[in-house]
Amino acid sequence: MADKKAQLTIGGETWNFPIMEGSTGPDVVDIRKLYASTGAFTYDPGFTSTASCESALTYIDGDEGVLLHRGYPIGQLAEHSNFMEVSYLLLNGELPNAGELADFENTISRHTMLHEQLMTFYRGFRRDAHPMAVMCGVVGALSAFYHDSTDISDPEHRRISSHRLIAKMPTIAAMAYKYAVGQPFMYPDNSLSYTGNFLRMTFGVPAENYEIHPAVEKAMDRIFILHADHEQNASTSTVRLAGSSGANPFACIAAGIACLWGPAHGGANEACLNMLREIGTPDRIPHYIERAKDKNDPFRLMGFGHRVYKNYDPRATVMQKTVREVFDALNVTDPIFEVALQLEEMALNDDYFKEKRLFPNVDFYSGAILSAIGFPTTMFTALFALARTVGWVAQWNEMISDPGQKIGRPRQLYTGPTERDYVPVSQR
Ligand code: CMC
Repeated sequence: MADKKAQLTIGGETWNFPIMEGSTGPDVVDIRKLYASTGAFTYDPGFTSTASCESALTYIDGDEGVLLHRGYPIGQLAEHSNFMEVSYLLLNGELPNAGELADFENTISRHTMLHEQLMTFYRGFRRDAHPMAVMCGVVGALSAFYHDSTDISDPEHRRISSHRLIAKMPTIAAMAYKYAVGQPFMYPDNSLSYTGNFLRMTFGVPAENYEIHPAVEKAMDRIFILHADHEQNASTSTVRLAGSSGANPFACIAAGIACLWGPAHGGANEACLNMLREIGTPDRIPHYIERAKDKNDPFRLMGFGHRVYKNYDPRATVMQKTVREVFDALNVTDPIFEVALQLEEMALNDDYFKEKRLFPNVDFYSGAILSAIGFPTTMFTALFALARTVGWVAQWNEMISDPGQKIGRPRQLYTGPTERDYVPVSQR
């Protein structure tokens, strides 16, 4: 509120800074005039206490384990909605009515194909390239193919490029998989759902009809919902920062994909399943818990811990339930699910994890489902990127439409040498 102020005193002099209130969540101290008034910067590596923007998309209460998209709880969306509807919600702010949803699905389905020349782009990669390396390259290259939608000052261009990105990601990800396994690329079939189409492009072959398993389609769609957006995480902030310079949306999303790949972020789903497989049997869990607690060992429990959640990640709750549904529907068992359940229980009862408030996150159970569906671990983060694209484009659009938007330009605490004279090489 206008009369709420924060006071800062440096060297005996005091300044007042306005406090801004959101619709819910912590207030923020508006320090935009801090440097101009005091000559000092703030220091916050990792942005642990810094709000970088205003946003009306997604809200997280990390202490309570709450995640809302445009106000709607993630559990309700995962249970009752579908990925196309959630995409519309994130992009437009409200749930669509039946006509709006049908129009949106129709529009997205009209953009699923890739420029034919992009097919040849794949052949420049080694067959054993990681799908995320392929995704970074191909998505970045989209700007070389769709020049007609890169004028970011034109809302219609922004709308078309957003739709193109959401529509083409399943095709791009499925082709990365096909290229790795040496099977022919599958063209999209727009009579299918967004998620069904992706499954067919990934697991179908031209020689046979591909039957979409309804439980798999539902689980995959739910996984997409769970990954759709997560406010100002590292990759989303990367997309915003790249976009703040006026870069085209395809380049910005490629930057987001590159950031997502790291094991502390989206790469954790792949790392987590590899970890669970390495643990192998429940009797080996205590050894890995001890390693995770050992300060001299770089090992961390993957799929555990979160910068914002200091409670159970609500996405992990849905994910755990979905594992059981998929296993039942496909009649599969996988010993790593038992390892995951026991690892969770042991960690949650351990003082180290209790004190540091470390809980399973979205990546802890997703790998068990994706593996049961038939994805290799290397595809896991690519699926995350596919789903997060809608969040990235929604956040990017929000930023570009904000009249107060400025290029992102953090400052620093300089600790290098002060000015000194150049010494010719003969005198060094
Ligand atoms: N295993 C063991 N110790 C951990 C773990 C873990 N998974 N996570 C955090 N800690 C400890 C950490 O060592 C630190 O201890 P201390 O205070 O004694 O130095 C303390 O907990 C706080 O950790 P931090 O690294 O300072 O916290 P952060 O907010 O910077 O990092 C995180 C958050 C997600 C990067 C981290 O918890 C982690 O590396 N988790 C494993 C990777 C993972 O699952 N990432 C997926 C996150 S959710 C999906 C996504 O964002 O894409």
